[in-house]
Amino acid sequence: MKKFFLAPSILSADFARLGEDTQKVIDAGGDLIHFDVMDNHYVPNLTMGPMILESLRNYNIIAPIDVHLMVKPVDNLIPQFAKAGATFITFHPEATEHIERTLQLIKESGCKAGLALNPTTPLNFLDYILEKLDLILLMSVNPGFGNQSFLPSTFNKLRQVRKIIDKNFLDIILQVDGGVKLDNIAEIAFSGANSFVIGSGLFKYSNYDLIIKKIRKELKHAHSRSIH
Ligand code: DX5
Ligand code: ZN
Repeated sequence: MKKFFLAPSILSADFARLGEDTQKVIDAGGDLIHFDVMDNHYVPNLTMGPMILESLRNYNIIAPIDVHLMVKPVDNLIPQFAKAGATFITFHPEATEHIERTLQLIKESGCKAGLALNPTTPLNFLDYILEKLDLILLMSVNPGFGNQSFLPSTFNKLRQVRKIIDKNFLDIILQVDGGVKLDNIAEIAFSGANSFVIGSGLFKYSNYDLIIKKIRKELKHAHSRSIH
């Protein structure tokens, strides 16, 4: 079965017990830790900086950390997040003057690079840089807050990006972020995503093991639907 990457968004974790809560979702089966960085400028909210990521590494969180930068400008923060222990760094094309330069900076700092597209950001931002991407993130809500509703227009966009990736025989992770829940994850996977950011849809439950087991079961259904 093809690999699906579950990316718990610690934006919905208990910030007073961040290390413990992060370890708990990894133990329950999370693959990547999704780390949302907001600056009250590119998006109307303020969250975490590189110091907090470094604290998680010092707490012995060894899972890959997927940093989603919702900040403008982007470039200054890249070496800081890389040094703090980021694995992936994803940014929004509207937040940087020179997309290709920002991608180069991420690669030079030793991280994998992702591009995040807002619900109305056109796909032609992928032209010319596709081969340089390790991850494409499709926002299925407007960035800035957890616990918003999934925008159904994302399904069509997902199918289009999946076609572009496959047509070019590329091994790019296609990630969806916003409003992912147990009851829509199968449809999202069936539309072409293979990584799922899940915040409130996971952290609102007390038993992470149980909810992740249920999610995996849903993903299995999506997989068998796609091969029949
Ligand atoms: C929104 C963030 C998301 C958020 C998702 O701007 O990028 O990662 O945490 O949260 P849920 O899963 O609650 O929609
Ligand atoms: Zn995010």
